[in-house]
Amino acid sequence: MIDELTAAFEHTFGAAPTGVWSAPGRVNLIGEHTDYNGGLCLPIALPQRTYAAVSRRDDGVLRMASAQQDGLVEVSLDEISPERPGGWSAYVAGVLWALAKEGHEVGGLDVLVDSTVPLGAGLSSSAALECAVAAAASDLFALGLLESAEGRARLAARCVEAENTIAGAPTGGMDQSASLLCDERSALLLDCRSGDTRQVPFDLGGEGHVLLVTDTRAEHALVDGQYAARREACEQAARELGVDTLREIDPSGLDDALARLDSDEVRRRVRHVVTEIERVEAAVRALESDDLREVGRLFDASHASLRDDYEVSCEELDVATETARTHGALGARMTGGGFGGSCIAIVPAHDADTVASAIEVAFADAGFTAPQSFTVTASGPAHRDA
Ligand code: GLA
Repeated sequence: MIDELTAAFEHTFGAAPTGVWSAPGRVNLIGEHTDYNGGLCLPIALPQRTYAAVSRRDDGVLRMASAQQDGLVEVSLDEISPERPGGWSAYVAGVLWALAKEGHEVGGLDVLVDSTVPLGAGLSSSAALECAVAAAASDLFALGLLESAEGRARLAARCVEAENTIAGAPTGGMDQSASLLCDERSALLLDCRSGDTRQVPFDLGGEGHVLLVTDTRAEHALVDGQYAARREACEQAARELGVDTLREIDPSGLDDALARLDSDEVRRRVRHVVTEIERVEAAVRALESDDLREVGRLFDASHASLRDDYEVSCEELDVATETARTHGALGARMTGGGFGGSCIAIVPAHDADTVASAIEVAFADAGFTAPQSFTVTASGPAHRDA
């Protein structure tokens, strides 16, 4: 990938790139739709990464090309806005815009990207793109933000700003933190209220299990209204309950809080968030005591809550998770924003092929597009490759 990308960069821009940087996609083990509620989540970085070959330019112009897209996109740094450059390149341009807005001295760049993160699969290909570019910008403009966890957290915050303001997706921040902060063989316990992070050992291989990811290929988009509507419902509920975020609702006071809300729909949204945060804590305890059965049980409970209370699952995700369970998975759940995208399952290593085939058969029977399953291990964060 790195050699090919370097050659393609030279072909596109007429000279070799200064370097190549990459950043991973993620799956969230548990803690869904909790990040924008100040809650807890537990993502791992995927082995699949987005690579960016990059050189500096001294004319304040950003030129961007992608192995997955036709054409070259060009924009001046001072023209970047929610309207320009739009499309996939908004995720690249937005990062430079956000860094400049924070007062960093950034200039123009030539950027060529390629990715092994499946696009539109709910595996954070957009965060991987932002974070690969952010890593390159940090090094090329000597911002030094990759050198410490604190710097990486600041870089992640800029990427979130890029996504929220320039790309127009009102996402929470888990994906960018995962891409910049996850360590190999660990899950990242992310406290979205305090910003605290902790690495939790995650290596199913030693237990004879694998994490199976199934991309359902069901359409999924975070810029449509559904994600924003869920976020708005939570913020509205927090206002009604007189708290900054739903994180403030203690599980022991959940029933009282629910009794103070008028709408049944909003009550279910709140119940999901508060119980999901508890499930993250329980999952961390279970992982730390090697109790994979309990982790699996929590996966199932999380999926049910996302399906019934938060209403962000879809038929494909329900069929995939149910089929995984009936063919030997310890637990299975949708991962990411939902409405399509991917699910994850903890599966005994010797059953992985059986589960993947069973999901394929179930999808064919239901008339769904063929899914794509693969196993993943917890991988490393954004870095310079060459
Ligand atoms: C998407 C968003 C994240 C998070 C998840 C749901 O992946 O980008 O910020 O809200 O959905 O947990």
